[in-house]
Amino acid sequence: IPVDPFDLVVVGATGDLGRRKILPALFRRFCAGQMPKGARVIGAARSDMSQDAFCDLVADAVREFSPKQAGEPGMLDGFLACVDYQRIDARGSKGWEALAAKLTPGRVRAFYFSVGPSLFGDLARRIREFGLVSDLTRIVVEKPFGHDLASARALNATLAEQFDESEIYRIDHYLGKETVQNLMAVRFGNMLFEPLWNSQYVDHIQITVAESVGVGGRGDYYDRAGAMRDMVQNHLMQLLCLIAMEPPAKFEPDAVRDEKLKVIRALDAMSPHHIVRGQYVADPAVPAGTDGPLGYRDEVGNPRSTTESYIALKAHISNWRWAGTPFYLRTGKRLVARSSVINVMFKDAPHSIFGADAGRHANTLTIRLQPNEGITLHVTIKEPGPGGMRLVDVPLDMSFAEALGPDGRDPADAYERLIMDVIRGNQTLFMRGDEVEEAWAWTDPVIAGWQSRGDVPKPYVIGTTGPVDADLLMKRDGRGWRGIN
Ligand code: BG6
Repeated sequence: IPVDPFDLVVVGATGDLGRRKILPALFRRFCAGQMPKGARVIGAARSDMSQDAFCDLVADAVREFSPKQAGEPGMLDGFLACVDYQRIDARGSKGWEALAAKLTPGRVRAFYFSVGPSLFGDLARRIREFGLVSDLTRIVVEKPFGHDLASARALNATLAEQFDESEIYRIDHYLGKETVQNLMAVRFGNMLFEPLWNSQYVDHIQITVAESVGVGGRGDYYDRAGAMRDMVQNHLMQLLCLIAMEPPAKFEPDAVRDEKLKVIRALDAMSPHHIVRGQYVADPAVPAGTDGPLGYRDEVGNPRSTTESYIALKAHISNWRWAGTPFYLRTGKRLVARSSVINVMFKDAPHSIFGADAGRHANTLTIRLQPNEGITLHVTIKEPGPGGMRLVDVPLDMSFAEALGPDGRDPADAYERLIMDVIRGNQTLFMRGDEVEEAWAWTDPVIAGWQSRGDVPKPYVIGTTGPVDADLLMKRDGRGWRGIN
């Protein structure tokens, strides 16, 4: 559905996020016919760059990250015609009047802060001071949204000085993923699951976000963050909320966000015995001096780092629906595969009429977020053949690519959806300030505990499923992780 012409100012457009995600996402929306003629994408940064040089940067980014669409005749030139550049000084006054002159009255004007949070306050003040605000102003900010509760509160307060909460769009790109939204469709669009979606029928839930990549060029940031701040406080927390929340009355921003907030507030304080931290080490089978991937400490250049690149934890939600059903979460880098999966593990049938020898298999609902997006329901049937009543577990498997054809195979990227939601003014898939703060309020004491105890993460070898202790976390409860692949 096309949107009305808009002005989108990408502050920090020349940075990594701008090049990899924001500009290619806008380009793909342009190719899909969703960006109307006359819409403007205005890059704003402190580099003294000509309009042509910026267009070259955009063209390179688009060719690298959207090669298919960039090859379609006329598309790239058409998109570049919408692109503009303005040098600005976030901390001073340079460039702001010129930027104001480039904005068209009466249309949505969104400012995407693709810069470090230390600049949010200055940018917000400049936008107001130089009269860039209108009735249709939207401010988009990226994670990391704070480093802890105090810094997140300070950021929220800084933004709140200039803008109303209804104008602020905090991106968690996991919420823009097609399959993450499908969680809500599966839960609330079917009669089948919701009656069973509680501690009476669900034994436990596993949420795995495994990555095969390491920290790459982001070592500096990551070593100060670690998996808890980088992934759990935001992406995994959002998945947990969508899985655990009560049905909102409507698929509307505050209705959904109110329910998510209640989940975070109902989380029990974490016990240190329910958390395993890990840090990847080089594979000892790869001889030193050869080209195998580096261990975490070598990769970030901090030989004594105690930052976790992996975390597994058991969380409890103390409310009527979930009391007694643990949620096991794990995420890590340099694991055996890239795979984000949620497994809803149902309880055993209360009684087996077939006797102990027939075997028993509890049902599992597996939601594959990426890759091979789809859903599998494991059900129990009779093993074929004349051997009597023996039970086997078989998958009812649905791959989005097969079921939905081209739309399922090539879902829109999270950023495409989220940027267009900003333009439409739909905040449903964006985090509200109080959600972010509550999530920090839950993670802060855990991190403080590690610091005060001098906790050192357990080593795990690159390409494995993580530290052995994470398996023990499950084993102690008589359970086991489902495979990562
Ligand atoms: C980012 C984290 O928010 O999400 C990265 O900072 C992580 O460390 C990335 O690699 C994972 O996103 P995706 O979409 O590749 O699963």
